[in-house]
Amino acid sequence: MTEQTHLELTKVTIDFPTDTGPFRALDDVNLKIGKGEFISLIGHSGCGKSTVLNIVAGLHQATEGGVILNGREVMEPGPERAVVFQNHSLLPWLSAYENIELGVKQVFRGTKSKREMREWIDHNLELVHMEHARDKRPDEISGGMKQRVGIARALAMQPEVLLMDEPFGALDALTRAHLQDSLMEIHAALGNTVIMITHDVDEAVLLSDRIVARPRERLALADDPQYNHYRSEVLKFLYERQKRPGESAADNAGAESKISTVEAPPTTDIPQEAMLRVVSS
Ligand SMILES: Nc1ncnc2c1ncn2[C@@H]1O[C@H](COP(=O)(O)OP(=O)(O)OP(=O)(O)O)[C@@H](O)[C@H]1O
Ligand SMILES: [Mg+2]
Repeated sequence: MTEQTHLELTKVTIDFPTDTGPFRALDDVNLKIGKGEFISLIGHSGCGKSTVLNIVAGLHQATEGGVILNGREVMEPGPERAVVFQNHSLLPWLSAYENIELGVKQVFRGTKSKREMREWIDHNLELVHMEHARDKRPDEISGGMKQRVGIARALAMQPEVLLMDEPFGALDALTRAHLQDSLMEIHAALGNTVIMITHDVDEAVLLSDRIVARPRERLALADDPQYNHYRSEVLKFLYERQKRPGESAADNAGAESKISTVEAPPTTDIPQEAMLRVVSS
């Protein structure tokens, strides 16, 4: 993690219009993210995680507050922010290959030749083990396969900011572990800023900068007391929230819109007794 703030959410509040009046899905969310940081968002279903991601992606506009990326306000989507959507939104009339090509052309037109683009798309299909289905359309492949194409599309864009909404949700354990490892390698190589939503505590603890230090050897971590400490802190946080869904009236609104990041100190200077900081906005 660098000291410099790369991405900053300030007082982000959003009211969605509904039949019964405006619904406040987020209330005063503040988050500073350094360049190259890997952040996980965890929280209960409906608490507003996807909404945060969509605002950073530029797909929703905050009613109050806003998002600054590289010193400029985010007003619309841009190719430097690739999104892996929760509902793997691929274009239904395009093949897996063509869906990825769309993103790749947007980013690399003028810098990669046609052949280089083709090789790059194939490389990314291989990364998610989808080369065998490159010419299939979304309605011809399973949910997990669609999810993998969505991941490949985002990774192929080599985005400065990678936004992922439960990217590995529909995958079997082995594919999931393989893609988590690939993601860690890509993140280490590119140094992009990542915001990932997950309901999987182990995944959040394994991947996120603010929770656990590098290097992350899956097997070694199983016996690592610090890793297990973070893991249990995250679980405790989630379960305690669940036990008391509505505290005071103000807090009740907060419980609906609680976005939390779990922070640990940066890699190099983690003291043995480092405590997990749970930051609620
Ligand atoms: N376009 C919209 N119009 C009205 N309400 C919305 C809209 N989008 C989201 N909401 C509401 O805002 C809240 C937060 O939704 P969001 O999709 O961000 O939740 P989430 O934390 O991603 O949940 P999950 O873990 O189930 O994906 C929910 O109560 C949802 O019903
Ligand atoms: Mg969601």
